[in-house]
Amino acid sequence: MEMSSVLHVLRDPAGIPAVPALFQLLMVLTWVFHIAFVTLALGTAALSIYAFYGHPGSEDWQRLSMAMTKVAKVSVSLLIVLGVAPLLFTQVIYDPQWYASNVLSARWAIGFIASLIVAYCLWFAFYWGNHEGAKRYIGLYAIVGLVLFLMDGLIMHVLSYQAILPQRWMDWYAPGGVIDMNGGALHAIEWPRYLFIISLSIPAVGVFLIAYSDYFSVREDKSKDYLQFARNLGRKIGFWGFLIATGLLIWWQFDHPADTHLVWQPFGWLMVMALLLMANILRDEKSSLSGYKLVAGGMGILTMVAIWREVVRVTYLKPFGYVVSDYKVNVDWPSTFLFFSTFIGVGGLVGGFYLTLLYQSGRVAGRYEAKGFVAKLGTGAVAIVALWIAVFLAYGTTIYIRNALI
Ligand code: HEM
Repeated sequence: MEMSSVLHVLRDPAGIPAVPALFQLLMVLTWVFHIAFVTLALGTAALSIYAFYGHPGSEDWQRLSMAMTKVAKVSVSLLIVLGVAPLLFTQVIYDPQWYASNVLSARWAIGFIASLIVAYCLWFAFYWGNHEGAKRYIGLYAIVGLVLFLMDGLIMHVLSYQAILPQRWMDWYAPGGVIDMNGGALHAIEWPRYLFIISLSIPAVGVFLIAYSDYFSVREDKSKDYLQFARNLGRKIGFWGFLIATGLLIWWQFDHPADTHLVWQPFGWLMVMALLLMANILRDEKSSLSGYKLVAGGMGILTMVAIWREVVRVTYLKPFGYVVSDYKVNVDWPSTFLFFSTFIGVGGLVGGFYLTLLYQSGRVAGRYEAKGFVAKLGTGAVAIVALWIAVFLAYGTTIYIRNALI
């Protein structure tokens, strides 16, 4: 059977509940948030280790190490939660590719979860021990943790990359005609792509440090010198980080197979220009930069990367006649409605409440009491969760009874 037929046969025969373009858009957009926290976690983790070992005796570096350890801790939990949404959307429209790739490297796909658990536990051990006068050996937990996080990123990369190379699946599944069900190999790695995406962790932590210094600038109890130190460091790291990422992106551009013509796609070069623009903004030591605007710029870059990954995927799969637009659609309005109302209602209101609360509470020293708008948001968030549980149960019960009666 031809590979293009295989890809179509492997699709879910039940079809999907709404137009494919909707899932494609959501997959691209939700991945932006996943990779934002991936880059922040890796960047802050690396910086906290460097600050831990690099400048013993310096109070600023010690404070920075402890602060970055906490940021990395929270970011890992967010990158995991925010990875679920694009994972679900990929499985909906690219199910043949995603499952084939996972089965071909099954041991790694399963090991990914175990190693992530071990890495996160190690990070917690480091976080626990990283205080004034911390023992030097605890840095080892952090180093092993970070190496495992990077390995998990590599596994994610391999699963994504193998998925767009269906022409090679049979060679991996049955090398020399002999079936190999081991699932123990990482069959294809595209180093420029992996290193480029990972390198974005450098500017991510740089930009974050500037926003961090802006954010705490209103707090009386935060030392102005320390915040200035964080800002200067952030600018330097951000500047060099954007330049390093530019170099790696250009390498990736020239690594695409010639017949894809991706190297001449203007969007790829627009990304190069956007990275250089960010580097240029961070170049001037004297300019007063707004951390929040830089974060918005960084999110813009990640959105471009997300779109580019999809352009690459669509281009690689086109010769196999695989386009998501011809996926069988079986419209299911109730589930689509439930999904969007959950996304906007629960996600928007509860997520919005948490974000507002965290933002406001961090800007006051000592105890924070939510009043006015924030308090109303809190009440709204609890109410919407209660309503959601009621609708969810009512919906499930109705379907169960209807099926039982048929
Ligand atoms: C430390 C842990 C993780 C790291 C460092 C990481 C890193 C990455 C990287 C670098 C990519 C892009 C790969 C590429 O385009 O070549 C990626 C993609 C992705 N990651 Fe993660 N990730 C981690 C954990 C997770 C988790 C826990 C989930 C799910 C719950 C997840 C879901 C995804 C999805 C769905 C994609 C896109 C797959 C696709 O479009 O084909 N990741 N991740």
